[in-house]
Amino acid sequence: MSVRRRIAARLQQLQADGLYRERRVVQPLPGGLCRTDGRELVNFGGNDYLSLAHRLRAVSAADSASAEATPFGATASSAVIGRTPELDALESALAQFENTEAALVFPTGYAANLGVLQTLIEDTDAVLCDRDNHASIVDACRGSRGQFLVFRRDRLDSLEKTLQRRRAAFEQTFIVTDGVFSMDGTVADLSALCDLADRYAASVVVDEAHATGVLGQQGRGSTELTATEQRVLVRIGTMSKAMAGLGGFVVGDAATIDWIRNRARTQFFSTALPPSVCQAMVQSLALISAEPQLRDTLAAATELAHRVAAELGLQTISSGLAPIVPILTGRPETAVTVSRGLLERGFLVPAIRPPTVPQGTSRLRLSLCVAHSEQQIRSVLGAVHELLETTG
Ligand SMILES: Cc1ncc(COP(=O)(O)O)c(C=O)c1O
Repeated sequence: MSVRRRIAARLQQLQADGLYRERRVVQPLPGGLCRTDGRELVNFGGNDYLSLAHRLRAVSAADSASAEATPFGATASSAVIGRTPELDALESALAQFENTEAALVFPTGYAANLGVLQTLIEDTDAVLCDRDNHASIVDACRGSRGQFLVFRRDRLDSLEKTLQRRRAAFEQTFIVTDGVFSMDGTVADLSALCDLADRYAASVVVDEAHATGVLGQQGRGSTELTATEQRVLVRIGTMSKAMAGLGGFVVGDAATIDWIRNRARTQFFSTALPPSVCQAMVQSLALISAEPQLRDTLAAATELAHRVAAELGLQTISSGLAPIVPILTGRPETAVTVSRGLLERGFLVPAIRPPTVPQGTSRLRLSLCVAHSEQQIRSVLGAVHELLETTG
C-alpha cells in the first residue's frame, strides 16, 4: 500500500470512530463571543479566561517614537544574538510577577515543557509523570533520557510505593504534574506531592498553564493557591491562556534558570518571541496584578456553572476551582453530536475525545471567561441537558 493510500485509510478510520477533527475558521470576538461561518456564537472553547485578548495592544514599529523603531520579529534565536530589550523586560516582569529570582521565555508552552524537562532529567534519573498530564509534558518526559514512570493522582499511595522501591536506583527523581488538569479542571494535590518529594528526596515540577492569572490571590497559580511555591523546583507556564498571547516560560532560582537557558534546545534552536508579543505580555501581567477582581468574577462564574450543572444532573468531574467544566458523555460520538447541536443553538463547546482523554471518557468541555453572563451559562448548560436527553 502506498503512503497516500494508507493516509486515506487512516482518515476514513478517524471518521468512522468519531475522532476526525473538522477544520473550522473561528474569529474570537470580545464579550466571550466568536464568529464562524458568518454566525456569532458564545465561545466556551477558548482559554482567554480573563477576557484580556481584546484589551492588549501591540506597539508596532509605526507607533514607536524612537528613531530605532521596534522590529516586528526578533530576527534570531536569543542564544545566537542575545535577547531583545523587550524579551529582557518580559523576563524581568515574569520573575517579579512570579516572585522568583529568574524567568526564561520560550516560543510556546509546549516548547517550554520540552526544553525544561529534557534539560533537567538526565540519563541517571527517573521521572514520575501524572497519567493525565498535558501531551507536551508527556512528550517531554518520554523524550527525556531518564526512566519514564507514570502515576495516578488518585493513587498517591501507589506513587509512594514506587518511590520506596525505586528511588535508590536513580540519582535524581522528578515528579511532574499539571497544576490544573486541562481536560477535567481538577487541581493537583501539590502539598501531598511535595510531602512525598521531601520524604524521598525527589523534586516537583509544576505546569501552571491553566492556573496562571486564574488561581491564587495574586494570580500566580496552583502553587500560590496551595502555598507550595517555595517547595517546587521550578514552575512552567504559558502566556497563551489567561495572559491571552503567546509564549512559554519557566521560573525559579537563578542557577537553575541559568542552567536551563544554557541547555534547553527548544530555546536555543528557536527564534525568540517577537518584541511586540513581549510588550503585550508585559501589559498582560500588569493587568493581572492590577485587576484582582477579574479572578473573583471568574470564580463566581465557575461556582454558578457547577451549581447549575449539578441541578440539571449533568456528570462533571472538576474540583470546581478552575474555570473548566467538563461534562462526561463517555462515547466520542455522543460528544460530537451534542457539540454539533450546541453549535446550531449558538454555542461553541468542543467535544474532547481520545487520544486527548482516555477511552470511554469523552466529554464536552466548557471553558469559562469573565465576559460570560449568568444567562449564557444557564442557557448553554440547559441546552447540553436537552441534547443529551435526545441523543441518549
Ligand atoms: C497544561 C498545558 N501545558 C502546556 C500547554 C502548551 O501551551 P502552548 O499553547 O503555549 O504551547 C497547554 C496548552 O495548549 C496546556 O494545556
